[in-house]
Amino acid sequence: MFKVEQFIDDCKQARNDSEPIKATEAVVQRAVSDQAGIINALGEPRFGGADKLYHSPELTILCLRWYPGQQLLAHNHNVWAVIGLFTGQEDNTFWRSENERAIKLGGKTLRAGEVSWMGETAIHSVKNPTDQITAALHVYGGDFFADGRSEWDDETHLRRAYDLERNLQSFEDGNAALEARYAAAG
Ligand SMILES: [Fe+2]
Repeated sequence: MFKVEQFIDDCKQARNDSEPIKATEAVVQRAVSDQAGIINALGEPRFGGADKLYHSPELTILCLRWYPGQQLLAHNHNVWAVIGLFTGQEDNTFWRSENERAIKLGGKTLRAGEVSWMGETAIHSVKNPTDQITAALHVYGGDFFADGRSEWDDETHLRRAYDLERNLQSFEDGNAALEARYAAAG
């Protein structure tokens, strides 16, 4: 059964492995194979949001929940990432930056029970194409909250500083719509 403390310990150990991404992938894959266990430990995902499970300069572990239809601009993390979905679906588009402009490389859909990794130079945009919450465990091989992250405008495709305020507002708007939907459904 999935246990948060055990998962954090396993991620710390994987972070110190000689092949940290591969080792972390195995830990996350094992976790998201137990969907019921994660939901039992972390709660049924009902709204968009972020839970910080662990945070240090070497390792950040988050539970991220995308509200229905949520879209994230192309962004970087500056550290490697391993992402494992336990509900829903997310459509990733990968980009590279050339002269501060994002150039599309390709895409990848992730579904519940699936795990994907990105290197520290990766740039991706994400969409939850479903009308339900998409929830995932995100493990980053460093300080996800460190300054210096970028995002790329979806119209001009130009790079700018990551806009935390704008992203938080997006969650609030999406969750307000969800609140109204739940209320209407009684
Ligand atoms: Fe990301």
